[in-house]
Amino acid sequence: MAVVSWRRGHSVIAAVASEGAAERHALLICGAARLRGVSTRYGDELAQCLRAEGARVTTWHAAAHDVADCVGCAACRPRAGEEFAPGTLRKECVIDDDMRALYGLLDAADEVHLVCPVYFGGPTGRFKCVLDRLQPYWEWRIGPGARLDRAREVKRPAYLHVIGAGGDPFGYDALTVIVRSALGSSGFFVADVIDRIGWGQPREESEKTRFS
Ligand SMILES: Cc1cc2nc3c(=O)[nH]c(=O)nc-3n(C[C@H](O)[C@H](O)[C@H](O)COP(=O)(O)O)c2cc1C
Repeated sequence: MAVVSWRRGHSVIAAVASEGAAERHALLICGAARLRGVSTRYGDELAQCLRAEGARVTTWHAAAHDVADCVGCAACRPRAGEEFAPGTLRKECVIDDDMRALYGLLDAADEVHLVCPVYFGGPTGRFKCVLDRLQPYWEWRIGPGARLDRAREVKRPAYLHVIGAGGDPFGYDALTVIVRSALGSSGFFVADVIDRIGWGQPREESEKTRFS
């Protein structure tokens, strides 16, 4: 099966199914504000590629879910004397919305792929909401009531795939910093930033509405 290869330096084509590779769970999060845009197409090809490598892939689209803002209520902060089951990775967020399922997927992931369009140098507003809701992991790992022994923690890899039309003089440093901060606080490290600026973009202005 020929698919777009996602690794740095392999801009296109030809990942062949690797026989007998250990199955890993890859969570692919698409941060686009719409479902039928460039990021979704890229994500579909990336998922194919990861599956060809032997990964089990789950895709989660920010555009298909309702996620409220983190209001900083600190209800996810572990309190003194509070007991938790062994292996717990976070305290539950009190907001009952679509993040509930995403927390479970993040807990179970061996690696995360973020397919993120650049909006004025940063993430889409919708995706920033999702990143801010990673606060329960920060509270668990780093905050004043932290319960994790971080010296013994093995961080999991996250890969940031940057989608954009290009031409913006300010680049996407802000996106990279925001993702490093949020994912880093959640027990992941950004192993690579894969620049896909220009990938799959419509050639004519008049084509731009085709994917909306
Ligand atoms: C509000 C807005 C801001 C954008 N800012 C940037 C930018 O700073 N840099 C860039 O390369 N592309 C920028 N773009 C282009 C998008 O990143 C590009 O259209 C991308 O394909 C959107 O993802 P989607 O097709 O999955 O929706 C911007 C688009 C919009 C609507």
